[in-house]
Amino acid sequence: MKAAAPRGLDVLARQARQARRRAHAPFSRFKVGAALRTAAGEVVTGCNIENASYGLTICAERVAVFKAVSEGRRRFEAIAVAVDSAHLAAPCGPCRQILWEFCGDIWVHMVDLGRKSLTVRMSELLPYPFDRRNL
Ligand code: THU
Repeated sequence: MKAAAPRGLDVLARQARQARRRAHAPFSRFKVGAALRTAAGEVVTGCNIENASYGLTICAERVAVFKAVSEGRRRFEAIAVAVDSAHLAAPCGPCRQILWEFCGDIWVHMVDLGRKSLTVRMSELLPYPFDRRNL
């Protein structure tokens, strides 16, 4: 049976929507916010930060993970990802790899600015991961 999603994902979603407001997305105009919750219940946020060279753009999810890891956080429980779009945003391929590497099989709570949401586990988004077990 599939384990139940943790409590408080609605609060995490609000924090992701707040973080989205700080997105720097002048090129795509597609703003994304992320809120990553540690096992201890702390929350580290991120937003996408674009660059004129395009390729140096970094997604909201990776900003949140790298901020958290750089501050010594190593155990995570869930991430909320907020967009203002008709389609909820699942983390892109590179973000899935980074999320798996640092956060493992956490819950991914995708939301819009209204009531739409979808909650899955990382293992559903990346069912056949390449990771340290392969090395
Ligand atoms: N983006 C994210 O921040 N997270 C996602 O899950 C998908 C895409 C950003 C990257 C870029 O700044 C913009 O959205 C359009 O791709």
